[in-house]
Amino acid sequence: MSTVNEIRGSELVLEEVTKIFGTVAAVDQVSLRVAPSEFLTLLGPSGSGKTTLLRMIGGFLSPNSGRILIDGDDVVDMPVERRPTAMLFQQLSLWPHLTVARNVSFGLELRRRPKEEIAQKVRDLLGVVGLSGFEDRLPSQLSGGQQQRVALARALALEPRILLLDEPFSALDTKLRIELRTFVRKLQREVGTTTILVTHDQEEALELSDRIVVLRDGRVEQIGEPTEIYDLPKTGFVAEFLGSMSFLTGSLTARGVRLENGVEVEVQEPFDHVAGTPQIGVRPEDVLVSANEGSGAFVIDRITRKGYFNEIWLSCGGATVGAYVGREVPGSIHSRVDVRMRKIHLFTESGDAIDLDNGNASVAVGGGPGEQSESERAEVQETRR
Ligand SMILES: Nc1ncnc2c1ncn2[C@@H]1O[C@H](COP(=O)(O)OP(=O)(O)O)[C@@H](O)[C@H]1O
Ligand SMILES: [Mg+2]
Repeated sequence: MSTVNEIRGSELVLEEVTKIFGTVAAVDQVSLRVAPSEFLTLLGPSGSGKTTLLRMIGGFLSPNSGRILIDGDDVVDMPVERRPTAMLFQQLSLWPHLTVARNVSFGLELRRRPKEEIAQKVRDLLGVVGLSGFEDRLPSQLSGGQQQRVALARALALEPRILLLDEPFSALDTKLRIELRTFVRKLQREVGTTTILVTHDQEEALELSDRIVVLRDGRVEQIGEPTEIYDLPKTGFVAEFLGSMSFLTGSLTARGVRLENGVEVEVQEPFDHVAGTPQIGVRPEDVLVSANEGSGAFVIDRITRKGYFNEIWLSCGGATVGAYVGREVPGSIHSRVDVRMRKIHLFTESGDAIDLDNGNASVAVGGGPGEQSESERAEVQETRR
């Protein structure tokens, strides 16, 4: 049995953790619970506080306020080397003058473990990361992906119960990045260490995570499973950050959306009816395009080849919509097309999702006259079912 399999994942709880730099709250009252052996991703744009939060969990920074609990114990005053955490930093950080084997064993040597045990552990770990036989190389004799795998083995050598990964794949080219992240996910499942990954890459987050935390300006914008966040984004910010979304202004009719210039676009799935003019969001995979040279209401403005599919941009009056179509584009630049939508998302002017499930569906957006009564709304709902 490999010595690597003995790592157990810890539970991590953050209670209103805040870190202030000068006048900016880099992390602002973040609370969340990470289950033992969970793979959680902190996703957000640059500057949203991801690294700061991870460094506080690892013990490299102290919060201004709040508690960090690992298996129930507050670790805020516990020094880095005593925490059951290991962190892989954003920049490659191997010791250039030490061999691969010694990079991995160094932490164990500091802990004065018996020589035999260290040698066995290094063999096991290099086997786990697929680098058996590379013991005597120097970091400069490895590719970027191999270096990152050594750094991973080094972090795992400390048997962390929580593994902290700060954009560990971002320095690698696309193919390696995909290879290594698949590898990390598989390894994490086998080893079972609780893992917190920081990334700004939505694809990485969707592919790897049990749950995703979307951060914005140091605050939690949404927490949920990947499909939940993708399908039911709570805000326009989340919708645009995870996947893409076009936003339109218009009013809702029984059959779909009436754009500001009066053009009606059919929506196939039932949606919550909202009075006024909500922001209407649509994902490109939900936009259905068909050629209609004669009288299509939309015009193709731009076509971007994506390999096995095309992304096209369509306009109608002041409205712009992105759509994914197959290899066969239904027209060319300036062609007129018809547009239908499979489903839409509705948001208030301030960008909060309007969702029937949370009882918000009756909010009037944009306010003012023209609001429907309860019974009228019910009628519209009825006709759509
Ligand atoms: N040591 C620091 N001193 C001052 N400001 C900092 C420091 N570290 C981070 N910040 C600021 O805190 C915010 C969050 O930074 P960071 O956690 O690095 O974001 P991310 O990792 O999401 O890109 C940013 O506005 C950044 O400029
Ligand atoms: Mg960062």
